[in-house]
Amino acid sequence: MNCTTRNTFLNVQSQYLCPAHAHDLTANREKICNVRIVCARVQTQEPMTATDTSRSKPVLVKRPIVPVKKLEFGQPGWDDYVLPRQGKFGRYGGKYVPETLIASLNKLEVEFHRVLQDPQFQEELATSLRDYVGRETPLYFAERLTEHYKNEHGKGPHIYLKREDLGHCGAHKMNNAIGQAMIAKRMGLKHVVAATGAGQHGVATAAACAKLSLECTIVMGSIDTRKQSSNVRLMKLLGAQVKTVEGNFKEASSEAIREWVGKLETSYLLSGTVVGPHPCPRMVREFQSVIGKETRRQAMEKWGGKPDVLVACVGGGSNALGLFHEFIEDQEVRMIGVEAAGFGLDSGKHAATLARGEVGVYHGAMSYLLQDEEGQILGPHSIGVGLEYPGVGPELSFLKDTGRAEFHSATDSEAVAAYKQLCRLEGIVPALEASHALAILEKLCPTLTDGAKVVVSCSGRGDKDAATVFGFKQD
Ligand SMILES: Cc1ncc(COP(=O)(O)O)c(C=O)c1O
Repeated sequence: MNCTTRNTFLNVQSQYLCPAHAHDLTANREKICNVRIVCARVQTQEPMTATDTSRSKPVLVKRPIVPVKKLEFGQPGWDDYVLPRQGKFGRYGGKYVPETLIASLNKLEVEFHRVLQDPQFQEELATSLRDYVGRETPLYFAERLTEHYKNEHGKGPHIYLKREDLGHCGAHKMNNAIGQAMIAKRMGLKHVVAATGAGQHGVATAAACAKLSLECTIVMGSIDTRKQSSNVRLMKLLGAQVKTVEGNFKEASSEAIREWVGKLETSYLLSGTVVGPHPCPRMVREFQSVIGKETRRQAMEKWGGKPDVLVACVGGGSNALGLFHEFIEDQEVRMIGVEAAGFGLDSGKHAATLARGEVGVYHGAMSYLLQDEEGQILGPHSIGVGLEYPGVGPELSFLKDTGRAEFHSATDSEAVAAYKQLCRLEGIVPALEASHALAILEKLCPTLTDGAKVVVSCSGRGDKDAATVFGFKQD
């Protein structure tokens, strides 16, 4: 059989795992077979029992799903988390890419570890975060929101917003875009390519490239360019070339990877969230972890302790991990990720990957995925365009399995209601993505003790979403 790793990273639709070599997936990337492999539904870690290797059409080998063993916090297995090998978080993550990309990813990993230790880079980054991005962002006490959620006895949690919407370009995306653009520059790569959904990562990347004199191509799905046209105009003003592909963020991500693979010698793929092959999730988390570090310091200043509950929306998971990571070992701090339930979890039109997905390989890493019986990627839906991704960061998959973080979901209409509520009560217009995190307060607050400190990630500003909210018909 003719084995090749061609296309293993690029194409997303119509993919099967060749049964002859399925069991080698983790052990030996070279043996992934023939043209159409990317999304591999992985149900257990045991070898698949493949039989027919001669037929030209790949067959799907069906086996019962074995539940993932729950890891207890701090127990063996957590070592993988504390001392990650090859970007693995337990079974998740990794580098499922063709051999041809390994050298580029390894080079990137070396450079990433170098800049972590380099005082000059760290100094430049700190200066940019302060003077260009506008950090630190406030930890804002939402007094009227707090009042709103008090019970009939006047008791309830205290709600704080981590104001990433006040950062340059209006979202947390800039924390990562500036850090990675600086790495691209150091590596001597002149051209940056990135995919964007809501446009916030596209705008942040275009701005960072303008500042650092790098050429920039932003890839966006045609559906998203229509919904987020103001951001498309901004990217162009910032000097980026905007390339449109049929579809939404899923298709844009695949196209950005293709664009990068075609120009490996000169291009840098600037990932916007904690997905993709190692070291992308680690890098994005590192640059976003400033959110949690600031929150710890600000909480100490404001109430002399830690937050009791952290809440963040989850698309790929970068604002959530940015907030959570600092507190992973503080077991008393609850972490709640909120996914997009779209029209409802049972509607088939949602982006709740952790709630309804199964484990597989997509865009170069193993994680939970929205996929059908045959391992085909399902199109996600959310009114928050930045949440419309069929996968999720591998680290969040690990935090789900271990029980260290909890995951809930909010529907489109709950998010719109939360958007409007924050406008009216606090005079703050949150991004529809962040509104999913705010929406969960409705169910969460009545369960919390009086005075519990809740920090919600207000991951971005919502001017871009005003037209969508006006046009939304509540059911
Ligand atoms: C404002 C905002 N919040 C959240 C997200 C979701 O991304 P992530 O889960 O990586 O934070 C996006 C994505 O575009 C966004 O624009």
